[in-house]
Amino acid sequence: MNNREKLNKEDFKALREFIYKQSGMFFSDAKLYFIENRVSKRLEALNCPSYKLYVRHIQNPANKKELLTLLDRVTTNETSFYRNPPQIDAFKNTILPKLVTAAKAAGRSQLKIWSSACSSGEEPLTLAMVIKEKQHLLRGLNVRIYASDISSDILEKAKKGIYSEYSMRNLPELYKKKWFKMRGGSYEIERELKSMIHYERFNLVDYPGYYKYKGMDAIFCRNVLIYFDLAVKRSIIESFHKSINKNGYLIIGHAESLHNISKDFKIEHFSRAIGYLKA
Ligand SMILES: C[S@@+](CC[C@H](N)C(=O)[O-])C[C@H]1O[C@@H](n2cnc3c(N)ncnc32)[C@H](O)[C@@H]1O
Repeated sequence: MNNREKLNKEDFKALREFIYKQSGMFFSDAKLYFIENRVSKRLEALNCPSYKLYVRHIQNPANKKELLTLLDRVTTNETSFYRNPPQIDAFKNTILPKLVTAAKAAGRSQLKIWSSACSSGEEPLTLAMVIKEKQHLLRGLNVRIYASDISSDILEKAKKGIYSEYSMRNLPELYKKKWFKMRGGSYEIERELKSMIHYERFNLVDYPGYYKYKGMDAIFCRNVLIYFDLAVKRSIIESFHKSINKNGYLIIGHAESLHNISKDFKIEHFSRAIGYLKA
């Protein structure tokens, strides 16, 4: 393949349209070089002579595997443990106790939490750590954490549960000591914590698929809405609303908002964080 072939506007538009249909991620014109960079490596790997042929290749339903690989390559998986501490503290100190009280009042024996764009797993593991810390509140309540992402590569990493020092940059020392053991310069998560989490590939634009996530008490969807356009954001938030129990919470990224997207939730303010309540 000719490494120096440039991605022209027409092929870029065909590619982005296809990625948009498959994942809801929208790449503006400014992202042409980003897409070219990521996709050129796929052309090389497949020995595919042109972008045009590559577009045809992925459009063929028989080549679904390559589509999944492409989605892996164009997603941004930036994350860390205890990301945005005020949000995690709000969950630990206010939201979780409220959810426990509501579940007990309703005579339920389980809480369900969903990290819906979990990347390499730092977010659901952080939730597991703070839930363990508040174990005394649970008394008899079992907690199941669902963790999903569109990228199968990143989910494999999540399932392994091995992390670098860099992933831990926001994690209080106490948790680091309690929940990891060192293995060859990396940090390996304790099995007890990982066993609280159910990992699964899930595409947030697979609207019929949300039936699997019914009855959630809290949904985390942080730092992913930014990749979607307004129509997709609205559909995803509507689907979350259906998935969340009454008195349950939706937590989105601290720099994101539901303004102009949904009026179905009630905003609750915590210390330097907000949550969206399904009242
Ligand atoms: C920037 S990371 C955010 C991770 C974590 N929620 C956090 O805030 O630290 C965004 C994640 O969204 C995932 N993603 C992008 N589009 C998605 C889709 N349509 N369905 C599910 N996950 C998606 C990406 O694969 C990536 O792992």
